Amino acid sequence: MLFDTHCHLNFAQFNKDLQLVVSRAGEAGVKFMLNVGCDIESSRRALELSEKDTYFFASVGIHPHFSGNVDELIWKEFEKIACGNIVAIGECGLDYYRLLTPRKKQKEVFEKQIILSKKLNLPIIIHSREAEDDLISILKDYEVKQAIAHCFSGSGRYLDFCMERNFFISFAGNITYPAAKNLRDFAKQVPLDLLLLETDCPFLSPQAKRGKRCEPQYLTYTRDELSRLKSIKAEKIEEITTSNALACFKIKL
Ligand code: NI
Repeated sequence: MLFDTHCHLNFAQFNKDLQLVVSRAGEAGVKFMLNVGCDIESSRRALELSEKDTYFFASVGIHPHFSGNVDELIWKEFEKIACGNIVAIGECGLDYYRLLTPRKKQKEVFEKQIILSKKLNLPIIIHSREAEDDLISILKDYEVKQAIAHCFSGSGRYLDFCMERNFFISFAGNITYPAAKNLRDFAKQVPLDLLLLETDCPFLSPQAKRGKRCEPQYLTYTRDELSRLKSIKAEKIEEITTSNALACFKIKL
């Protein structure tokens, strides 16, 4: 049984064939899926999906790209959605690569989500891109203890920081890309008890499916790559990462 800890079946790309996507996931052994919100609408949809299927879970969050228009009213609305049956806050964080939202505003909305996650005693799902210095200092300031470094990418310093704090570290299909050698080196360093798997679908299809819409069934490629890198049987990787995910999101079956 695999757990896709970060997918976006709540996005419009899956509106037409969601049932088929879910049944293909089942055939590939992907039993659990965490749908992750990026704004009010996709967070609401993640929650809605989790009510339809016992194997769907929801995380609600405001991605840094969509932080720009968050005013008091939108925040109040978001807090209301977060009262639903959710297992994490996010994805949230900082993205200075595309910088669709000014840095100051990104930090403000990230900090609000950290405070909310602490209040709800939930882990946060962190998106980080070219913003490590600010990100690390915020995580330190707020003494964040429960977190997932989603679709890990970045420096060795960020990896060390996450491992020291026992954050979960999640790898996606981009670990199979020919150019991703440093990502594979990082994956080798991550202890098994901090390892999670995700697809981030519809994005980041693994190399074998590159150019196609990604979906949860392709999680097997990431599992197999980690199995190869760590010289551990694929079944073992599957068992450990699923049990890590259940513990991380405090899911009782
Ligand atoms: Ni995502």
